[in-house]
Amino acid sequence: MRNVADDMIKINHIRKVYRMGSERVVALDHIDAVVKRGEICCIFGTSGSGKSTLLNQLAGMEKPTEGSVVIGKVNITKLREEQMAVFRQKHIGFIFQAYNLLPYMTALENTAIPLMFQGVGKHQREKQAARLLKLVGLGDRMHHYPSQMSGGQQQRVGIARAFAAKPSVIFADEPTGNLDTKTTAQIMEMIVEMAKKNDQTIVLVTHDPEMAHYADHILTLIDGNIVRDEKTQEKGSL
Ligand SMILES: Nc1ncnc2c1ncn2[C@@H]1O[C@H](COP(=O)(O)OP(=O)(O)OP(=O)(O)O)[C@@H](O)[C@H]1O
Ligand SMILES: [Mg+2]
Repeated sequence: MRNVADDMIKINHIRKVYRMGSERVVALDHIDAVVKRGEICCIFGTSGSGKSTLLNQLAGMEKPTEGSVVIGKVNITKLREEQMAVFRQKHIGFIFQAYNLLPYMTALENTAIPLMFQGVGKHQREKQAARLLKLVGLGDRMHHYPSQMSGGQQQRVGIARAFAAKPSVIFADEPTGNLDTKTTAQIMEMIVEMAKKNDQTIVLVTHDPEMAHYADHILTLIDGNIVRDEKTQEKGSL
């Protein structure tokens, strides 16, 4: 997708309405925005403002009620579920608040999962996973299971896994929500450094105003509306 101008994600007037019996919840109310290639974009807002809903539409986990999302040149809103799954495996990485590592797999095996989906052989994918784990400072924890690692260590495995298949875009929903301030800073610096190195785009959901420090672009949501769309002055403010 590198030949597409500078727009990485185009959000075209998306609206998401959840229906629960006779009740309707307007979670997103006609959202427009553009995220550029290589940006660290923070979606910021209080609980219930629609952050996770927006991320789910951008990552194609849910379809918007109206509007569309374009990633690179592809209108993902038009993709069928199985096409979306293939697109995600090729182009998208995820970092979750609860780490979402598979408990019966080691750090090395967890990191290698996206490469397995890409059909990379065991030897090659474990070599690549080991390189990534060293990069996130876990060279001495490769054969540990998630339950044998601290929260910060598990999230570093989560980061290594998200970057493993060299995705163009990485989505993260409160990736440091379960971590202390010092570990949060380490994890954020790691994410930003890895993304900047390869010109990857990060869309990160947070309710923590401190996170703005790491962002090039901040979208602020209130009640399903973008009330502020702001580019920070210094690109890559680290
Ligand atoms: N599957 C669903 N069905 C019905 N309503 C939903 C659903 N998912 C989200 N909502 C509603 O949409 C609104 C936005 O929810 P969302 O999860 O996007 O908020 P958020 O900004 O991520 O909040 P938090 O910071 O607490 O994670 C909320 O009012 C929520 O109750
Ligand atoms: Mg949320």
